Amino acid sequence: MNRQFSTLSQCIRENEKEFSQATGAYTGLMNEILVAAKIISQEVNRAGLSVINILEQTDNINVQGEVQQKLDIFANSSLKNILKRSPYLCAIISEEDEKPTIIPGNVIKGKYILSMDPLDGSSNIDVNVSIGTIFSISRKLSSGTEVTKDDLLQKGENLVGAGYIIYGSSTVFVYSTGNGVHGFTLDPGLGEFLLSYPNMKIPSKGTIYSVNEGNYDLWSDQQKKCVEYLRKRDKATSPPYNARYIGSLVADFHRTMLKGGIFMYPANSIAPNGKLRLLYEAIPLAYIVENAGGKASNGFQRILEIHPNEIHQRVPLFIGSKENVEMAEKFLSGEHK
Ligand code: AHG
Ligand code: MN
Ligand code: MN
Repeated sequence: MNRQFSTLSQCIRENEKEFSQATGAYTGLMNEILVAAKIISQEVNRAGLSVINILEQTDNINVQGEVQQKLDIFANSSLKNILKRSPYLCAIISEEDEKPTIIPGNVIKGKYILSMDPLDGSSNIDVNVSIGTIFSISRKLSSGTEVTKDDLLQKGENLVGAGYIIYGSSTVFVYSTGNGVHGFTLDPGLGEFLLSYPNMKIPSKGTIYSVNEGNYDLWSDQQKKCVEYLRKRDKATSPPYNARYIGSLVADFHRTMLKGGIFMYPANSIAPNGKLRLLYEAIPLAYIVENAGGKASNGFQRILEIHPNEIHQRVPLFIGSKENVEMAEKFLSGEHK
């Protein structure tokens, strides 16, 4: 049988040809991420095996004050071990590292900076629920021999590309370079990611809302009203909504991309900026959702327009179908009561 398929590497290479000044560096970098994704995917699949003892929590606390689990560390070091040797990168920002990793030999010739959440949803590892990796790539702006604060803290509008990998019932790699969003499913037999979701588009409106309602008492009145509206069964004009909340951002986001609706991690009285991180969770997914026709906001402002002040900054996140995100914004501003 002569099957016709496209692999992720082929698509990245073909995509690069569309940019006249392309040097092959971006393609090279994406191929390195791809190798790390396969390594992490394999390890995630084996995580249930107690023989490899990978589910035990370590004693390390990460910069967010959370207990790091072994797979977080494994994912972080797998990506860094490969990417630190990349000639294309000058710096790596990771959720698991307090400070950015500057790659000394590459400060002049490495033209890209990578920000990543190596393993998202890690509290779901030991219950066999989907987890993921999120990343974004930006260009070094300065030409000197240092990686400056401005190089590291760039608005999402400046991204060159972003993606996520979901380790679920299958492993799926979704990325965009600003020219559509494409998804690839790992064929474990071939060891290749095959194009499975070409040119993904998020529905303009969906009927699923996704939020941790355990935080209800901590929300603002406007936030409470928004969710109460979604729960109402007697709306004259809208269909009823269903609630879905996995607790792995990548998994909740992937479902939202495919089915439409809204994912929210709002501010609350003990977390005034919510929980999620701007640089390596909100911005990459905002870039992807916008490239698929959706929207991402902190409730008041487009995520991609927010200028980061520090690498581990948190931000409230409202992301998904255009109409659903606009509706949430109207509740937050008090326009919709
Ligand atoms: P991480 O595992 O990278 O620290 O991220 C966890 C995040 C995210 O995946 C998810 O959306 C959120 O935590 C869930 O938070 P709550 O448990 O507060 O709902
Ligand atoms: Mn995360
Ligand atoms: Mn993480």
